[in-house]
Amino acid sequence: MPQHPITQAIRIQTPRTDEMEHSSPLFLTSSFCFDNAEEMRAAFADETDDNIYSRFSNPGVQEFTDRMCALEGAEAGFATASGMSAVFASFMSFLKKGDHLISCNAIFGSTHTIITKYLPRFGIEYTYVPAGRPQEWEAAIRPNTKMIYLESPTNPGLDIIDLEFAGKLARKHALLLNVDNCFATPVNQRPIDFGADLVVHSATKWIDGQGRVLGGVVVGKKELIHELYLFCRSTGPSMSPFNAWVLSRSLETLDVRMERHSSNALYIAQQLENHPAISWLRYPWLKSHPQHEIARKQMKNGGGIICFDLKGGVESGRRFLNNLNMLSLTANLGDTRSIASHPASTTHAKLTEEERQAVNITPGLIRISVGLEHRDDILSDILQTLDKC
Ligand SMILES: Cc1ncc(COP(=O)(O)O)c(C=O)c1O
Repeated sequence: MPQHPITQAIRIQTPRTDEMEHSSPLFLTSSFCFDNAEEMRAAFADETDDNIYSRFSNPGVQEFTDRMCALEGAEAGFATASGMSAVFASFMSFLKKGDHLISCNAIFGSTHTIITKYLPRFGIEYTYVPAGRPQEWEAAIRPNTKMIYLESPTNPGLDIIDLEFAGKLARKHALLLNVDNCFATPVNQRPIDFGADLVVHSATKWIDGQGRVLGGVVVGKKELIHELYLFCRSTGPSMSPFNAWVLSRSLETLDVRMERHSSNALYIAQQLENHPAISWLRYPWLKSHPQHEIARKQMKNGGGIICFDLKGGVESGRRFLNNLNMLSLTANLGDTRSIASHPASTTHAKLTEEERQAVNITPGLIRISVGLEHRDDILSDILQTLDKC
């Protein structure tokens, strides 16, 4: 019987060296040696899978990638330096001049910049479709459409997109379905089970889980990942062996960490839902979430992010952040330490007011990345600052 993915994420390991180490060593080397010219020739001719150069092959990076593939149920993967290099590689490996991309409109700010500023420079067109109304997506498909791109849950508005619906739509029109699974993580949601061809991650977030290193990964079907590998081999957005070593260790605890992040987040969301300073609060595991039923269908738990709107708008947002005692004000999410952010003035500041409104980023929107501190300490810090909003 094959091992459970959770076990594989712990037990897949680089072959033990003569030193008989228990935990994987760090292969901090730029290149690898060959015993003779013939071995080197065969490696370059792809006749063997010997490591050559860490821009495209390193045992520790491969260990991290293999663990991610086991968790996502993917055939193959390629690890990158950051989430954004994973997203960019997933576009540039499969889209060319004259192609059309359909993307849900609620996406991470830098992904928005790639789609609207850089892809058009290469002659790649795009159409944004509403995250909350997937029934409108089919009408946006054109003869030259090649890919559907989405995040679920979306950042920061926590829209949940029906992955089964998106998978069927992509199949019907022979399009690639590319899903950013950063917010859910593979222990909580596996887009490939619903028909995704490619899954991208910022490993910087929950996968690292402790705010230490940047990383990204793309996983999917073998032949697609081979294309992406060829793009990355030549263009060089590779993951550092050191970061791979850190992230690979992190995967061993991802499942237990996500369970606690999610239970802490659910508790805090329940306590805050009817707070008088808040006009609305979103958390996928609350019945009040507009796509709660879809979340229950495709996720194992609600994840670690809560967002809510302060009735007092921008000014209240500032007061909320300025009066926090424990929660950190920082650009990251998915850390052991709880983090508060104000997307309208930071991660999504490059969007126009109109674009922000279209994806529910109100002036008073606060995003909380719920950490692993005791839930009562997180809640009491939020409650005391809400009193001052
Ligand atoms: C959903 C999502 N995708 C991609 C990224 C980019 O990841 P990175 O910062 O590792 O480049 C982020 C960063 O916050 C994100 O939230």
